[in-house]
Amino acid sequence: MKICVIGLGYIGLPTAAMFANAGHQVLGIDKKQAIVDALNKGEILIEEKGLADFIKKPVASGHLTAKTEIEPADVFIVSVPTPITEDKKADMRFVKSATEDILTVLKKGDLVILESTSPIGTVDSLMKPILDKSGLVAGVDYNLGHSPERVIPGQILYELVHNSRVAGGYTLHPPAQSASQSFTRALSKARSTRQMQELQRWQSFRKTLSGMST
Ligand SMILES: NC(=O)c1ccc[n+]([C@@H]2O[C@H](COP(=O)([O-])OP(=O)(O)OC[C@H]3O[C@@H](n4cnc5c(N)ncnc54)[C@H](O)[C@@H]3O)[C@@H](O)[C@H]2O)c1
Repeated sequence: MKICVIGLGYIGLPTAAMFANAGHQVLGIDKKQAIVDALNKGEILIEEKGLADFIKKPVASGHLTAKTEIEPADVFIVSVPTPITEDKKADMRFVKSATEDILTVLKKGDLVILESTSPIGTVDSLMKPILDKSGLVAGVDYNLGHSPERVIPGQILYELVHNSRVAGGYTLHPPAQSASQSFTRALSKARSTRQMQELQRWQSFRKTLSGMST
């Protein structure tokens, strides 16, 4: 599975490194050439505990590379800034521009995830209309969702794996489920083991319930 992470800042870079360390082919995209050049040399320009070492292995193995221009992939993760403007609104220009870039390479079966902190309805009102211009339909031809990041700087590598996540979107048909399941599994073995245990508990709970109703 090739994963493209758009925006290599405090959220995008650890996320990209997490997937690359899990063995996926990850391409990071950033408009800033200096960030791209540094990453391709195995260096980072931000400070986050453990991150400088965490990127070294996947960069050396070729699992994590960076470019300024988008390329086709199976999964796109949008982690660009959404700063608050003077009139207290979220500035969504970066999300719009990243979505327009995805439109140029979107294909059937892809999974697009908005990771940036965004106003409710952003996927519906901003991203879907742009991506549907491809002629593909969200939830039918490609998968589109929002899973806002909740990590705290300073312990991002720990929290990416251990924090619970809220996710929703146009991802309900079976291919999307399998895509999102493999996406979740990739986060870490520890996390997928925990989720598997939760799933097993839920299944046995359901079995008990159906036993009671018959
Ligand atoms: N930093 C945090 O602790 C934190 C925590 C939770 C959520 N968030 C949210 O995550 C999102 C990203 O925040 P961040 O802190 O990683 O931002 P950041 O400023 O550290 O990094 C964003 C990166 O995106 C790049 N970029 C901007 N537009 C682009 C485009 N069109 N294509 C490619 N690259 C582009 C910038 O050059 C920058 O390197 C925001 O919505 C933020 O609110 C941040």
